[in-house]
Amino acid sequence: MKFDVHSLVRTNIRLLTPYRCARDDYDRGILLDANENAIGSVPADPRDLNRYPDPHQEAFRARYAAFRGVQPANVFCGVGSDEAIDLLLRIFCRPGDDSILIAPPTYGMYKVSAAINDVDVQSIPLSRDFQLRVDDILAAVRPATKLIFLCSPNNPTGNVLHRQDIRRILLDFNGIVVVDEAYVDFSDEPSFAGELDAFENLVVLQTLSKSFGLAGIRLGLALASAEIIDYMMRVKAPYNINKLTTEVALKAMDNLDEMHRHVQLLNAERGRVADRLREIPAVGRIHPSDANFLLVEVPDALRIYREMADAGVVIRYRGDQIHCESTIRITIGTPEENDAMLTMLTEKLS
Ligand SMILES: Cc1ncc(COP(=O)(O)O)c(C=O)c1O
Repeated sequence: MKFDVHSLVRTNIRLLTPYRCARDDYDRGILLDANENAIGSVPADPRDLNRYPDPHQEAFRARYAAFRGVQPANVFCGVGSDEAIDLLLRIFCRPGDDSILIAPPTYGMYKVSAAINDVDVQSIPLSRDFQLRVDDILAAVRPATKLIFLCSPNNPTGNVLHRQDIRRILLDFNGIVVVDEAYVDFSDEPSFAGELDAFENLVVLQTLSKSFGLAGIRLGLALASAEIIDYMMRVKAPYNINKLTTEVALKAMDNLDEMHRHVQLLNAERGRVADRLREIPAVGRIHPSDANFLLVEVPDALRIYREMADAGVVIRYRGDQIHCESTIRITIGTPEENDAMLTMLTEKLS
């Protein structure tokens, strides 16, 4: 069956006449078209902050596309990947009727965003070794299932999902498959961005919040076919990405070597922290991780989490997630932070 993205899109979105920004037409000359403040910003700023930003983020999209080996028309910029998740729900899922499918334990925002949009969530848990149960996923698909969210490397487990499994779902599901690659730069596994030409129903999510260390600027990306990106551009708020974010994000593209150095350091620390954890007798399973965190089994995980937070080292309790009984998730910090965490955890577990 030939995949037709337009037939999947909600009718009201397909028929939408998007808001036209003043800056869509002209961005030069004496600009008295957008009710900006021509005197200037308060305080004064050389970056023309009194003027609206580029609604199409052309400069940054071109740089990011080149970095990931895709075309600018394949790149959407959002206020974090969380905005992209919300927009995909709004474009493809009719509130009250449609559903998404997730494979828990996984990132919590898919479910929250679905609930906000009054969209049903079908959960097909990962296997005990945190891999996709592809047959069960495909068997659970109904006509109302519009989006399948897969997270690789997965949060909170840290592992990458088998590529062949993701490919099978892409091939056999006549809907949108979202592969969330927030942690992809910490992994040796190549991005699915390289497979956009092969799969018209693929959306890859990425973010500057993790490997680039820019969680504070809120910039997330969706990479997909030009048709899907066009729908996202039409539905987003007109000026969603501000000038300050764009300025920093463009500088990030000039400093890719530094990003790779940070990733190397964090990955080396991840190995060292795992080795040190292995020396603590009470520590159980340390799950292999391709991300900047470790999922670790400890006795009495909830108490350990609370006591450590009260004492000034905040990790995350994940023991309430399926297949994650009595686990904590530890983000890899600086070597000094990791040492402080290890010292405290050793003390709490002895
Ligand atoms: C899997 C996954 N996707 C997306 C995000 C959110 O990214 P952003 O900061 O771009 O909204 C996170 C953040 O923890 C995450 O773990």
